Amino acid sequence: SRTILIGAPIDEGQRRPGCLMGPAAYRVAGLARAISDLGHGVEDWGDVALPSLAHVTCPNPAVHALAECVGWTEVLADRVDDALSDGGLPIILGGDHSLALGTVAGAAAFAAREGRPLFLLWLDAHSDFHTPLTTESGNLHGTPVAYIAGREGFDAFPPFPEPIPAERICLYGIRSVDAAEHAALLRHDIAINDMRVLDERGIVAPLREFLTAVREAGGMLHVSLDVDFLDPSIAPAVGTTVPGGTTFREAHLVMELLHESGLVTSLDLVELNPFLDERGKTAKLMVDLVGSLMGKKVFDRPTRSY
Ligand code: ARG
Ligand code: MN
Ligand code: MN
Ligand code: MN
Repeated sequence: SRTILIGAPIDEGQRRPGCLMGPAAYRVAGLARAISDLGHGVEDWGDVALPSLAHVTCPNPAVHALAECVGWTEVLADRVDDALSDGGLPIILGGDHSLALGTVAGAAAFAAREGRPLFLLWLDAHSDFHTPLTTESGNLHGTPVAYIAGREGFDAFPPFPEPIPAERICLYGIRSVDAAEHAALLRHDIAINDMRVLDERGIVAPLREFLTAVREAGGMLHVSLDVDFLDPSIAPAVGTTVPGGTTFREAHLVMELLHESGLVTSLDLVELNPFLDERGKTAKLMVDLVGSLMGKKVFDRPTRSY
């Protein structure tokens, strides 16, 4: 398979500078080599650049950097669509989570032309289900799932191509939801695998069920991996740490299941803030997780287990 790296040096979806260094950190941490060592082709398409800004407005005065986020959305949607149309597996190196406004739009545009259903796996501490009208922080990295699900309030943005129906969206690892997101999520039939669910059922069973649904539908699968899906003790380089995240072992297991499924068609790596990292620890962990998702395992044959 052919992997296409797309750098998205985006800081504007939140207010703590540093995520724009993410793509450079992934390259320094050896992402391309980790993938090519597994026998995959890798192309690096470089970093996307912010186009000239349109004049846009939003009734919520709290919203931060709206025009920039709209610009990134347009350019990333186009680039991801191009990568998929080229037969590649795009991996987007973020950049804060607002980049998913664009990357999932690009995947959705491609899926619509192909006549295939697009599914979304959101690996995150947060539900990111605000709209520009409900966000209190004004940080648009808290909004992509709402855009993708077709909620109103995104007038400044390009219309989302074929919003993803709730039953094709799976939130995983959730442990921080604002009141307005909570109320809205109760009105949508989105699978919410919060930490309460994962503690009781384990990290594997709900994911297997979701992957079965993707497979039976002949779907494409976009995976959006937020660094704060991981526990802050293993992944400190993120501005929005939330205690009680997934462990090293759970996270690798999720990636291994995704690899075995063979279903992943595009991937975001988001919210890495290298300025907050400890000697590259988080960047290296994210690269290792991509390795597991791309097929790295201890043994690649069945073995006796005792
Ligand atoms: N819900 C909070 C907000 O709207 C936090 C969002 C965090 N999102 C993220 N992609 N890290 O500000
Ligand atoms: Mn194009
Ligand atoms: Mn997020
Ligand atoms: Mn998050």
